[in-house]
Amino acid sequence: AADDKLVLAIPKVELHVHIEGTLTLDLRWKLTQRNGTTLRLVPNGPELKSLDELNAAMDSIMPEAGRMNNDEERDVFFESYFEGFQALKMKGDYYDLAMNYFEHAASMNVRYCELFFDPQGHTSRGVPWSEMMDGFREAQRDADMILNVKSAWIMCFLRDLSPESAMEHYKAALPYRDMIVGIGLDSCEDNRPPSLFEDVFAQARRDGFKLTMHCDVDQKETAGHIEQVASVVAGKGADRIDHGLNAADEQTLIDLILKRDVGMTLCPWSYLRHTTYAKLGLRIRTLYDAGIKLSINSDDPAYMEDCWILHNMLLARHICDFSDKDIVVLARNAVEISWAKQSVKEKIL
Ligand code: HPA
Ligand code: ZN
Repeated sequence: AADDKLVLAIPKVELHVHIEGTLTLDLRWKLTQRNGTTLRLVPNGPELKSLDELNAAMDSIMPEAGRMNNDEERDVFFESYFEGFQALKMKGDYYDLAMNYFEHAASMNVRYCELFFDPQGHTSRGVPWSEMMDGFREAQRDADMILNVKSAWIMCFLRDLSPESAMEHYKAALPYRDMIVGIGLDSCEDNRPPSLFEDVFAQARRDGFKLTMHCDVDQKETAGHIEQVASVVAGKGADRIDHGLNAADEQTLIDLILKRDVGMTLCPWSYLRHTTYAKLGLRIRTLYDAGIKLSINSDDPAYMEDCWILHNMLLARHICDFSDKDIVVLARNAVEISWAKQSVKEKIL
């Protein structure tokens, strides 16, 4: 198998990470102190009075790998993820959040990244677009200049909210379109297929944005989720698929993904909440061996025991027995399926 040094040293592109999911507990505590906001881990949970209490609360709710196999535990993830948004209010908070990610990224040799953000989780609390976007923009500029990490943003819609809200946010974001390379779809998938958001995605496509969607993130072994993957890929409704691991169980889907030449962003650590190492390794191997362009990513490192892209690549290598050559292929896949300009791509790897 490939050695650790190669996995660390290889220049990386990260394509599936939620900026709000990188809010480490240390930073959350700092921002909460700075803004004088009340700190809870989940809505209506007890108020937390110290960083130790915050750490202990997180430990107590986060299931160990392989254990988050029911809806209740999955709901706890979303509750704590969205409660974390409460710490973010001012431009400086968004700057610090993004910069904290960029510093981690630089330390793992990430050279380019596409970052998801969930504007609805901020506007709904009364945060003005300018606080959020100006903070992100300044961090993005400093990361490029100081850390040599380039980036672009993917604006996600929360699929549990209405298509009308998605459209409103789409229009409101247009003044910032120079920062935004693509449009995504995230949050809880239950009964919220991508087809509900057809209009806003069609508009975004016409306006020149790339499209991606979370599929099958919850690892439900139901046909419905497989159909979601198919519906996203069919007709090239999406330029990439986020997760979509269930495709490994369905040869017709593998064929479709290959035919449409759609890349996939996988986040191995996330799946350990619902599956075993052995099963996960087999599924990733199946997709990889079929020739699908998949990349390895971190998703929500602050909610996943601080597993960043490096740890996810090490995990993938371990469970799939990837060689040096495979690691290079994975890193190149990420460059290829990224939406960076050709001139940026050429300088990465
Ligand atoms: N799943 C779906 N949506 C999300 C996630 C996730 O793990 N993290 C942030 N948004
Ligand atoms: Zn995700």
